[in-house]
Amino acid sequence: MKKAIIAMFAVVAFAGAAFAADSYEYKGGAMGKVTFPHKAHMKLGCAKCHEGAPKKIEMNKEVGHNKLCVKCHKAEKKGPQGCKDCHKK
Ligand code: HEC
Ligand code: HEC
Ligand code: HEC
Repeated sequence: MKKAIIAMFAVVAFAGAAFAADSYEYKGGAMGKVTFPHKAHMKLGCAKCHEGAPKKIEMNKEVGHNKLCVKCHKAEKKGPQGCKDCHKK
């Protein structure tokens, strides 16, 4: 049983790694586009951003600022925190 569970997690983790792009780009409105290097964030642990199974996260200003990106960078004092550090024209 224990082995079966470990195997299951391995499959889920592999499927996740196989289907996520290395990097995503968001439009970011008038401030300019935002690049999200997904691969570089994976070491933080999937659950930091994905609730339950890793799947698509709908991005918008609320999520980008108050739920994920800016919130975490400020809390951890790591990663870009200034507007133009994230938004590029
Ligand atoms: C720092 C936040 C963050 C972490 C940590 C993270 N992800 Fe993601 N992941 C995202 C975001 C945001 C997207 C959505 C990209 C998009 O579609 O715009 C995404 C997309 C994905 C997708 C693609 C979903 C789809 O249908 O397009 C997969 C699969 C995925 N992540 C797996 C993982 C796995 C596995 C881990 C852990 C090893 C992980 N992610 C860690 C933020 C994160
Ligand atoms: C759970 C915390 C967390 C979340 C959520 C998160 N980040 Fe980060 N981000 C980090 C950390 C920690 C670093 C620094 C990584 C390092 O130094 O290795 C970082 C670094 C970065 C970098 C710089 C990478 C480099 O190569 O220098 C960019 C760009 C970035 N994040 C964009 C984003 C965007 C866009 C989002 C939202 C989609 C996001 N991050 C969400 C923690 C997070
Ligand atoms: C850590 C990265 C990060 C930082 C820092 C950041 N943003 Fe964003 N911002 C995002 C992400 C991600 C989105 C969502 C982009 C999307 O959905 O196209 C966003 C969305 C926005 C939008 C909405 C765009 C639209 O029309 O949908 C505006 C406006 C904006 N940011 C302005 C700012 C300003 C002003 C600052 C500085 C005070 C700032 N941002 C700092 C990542 C960041």
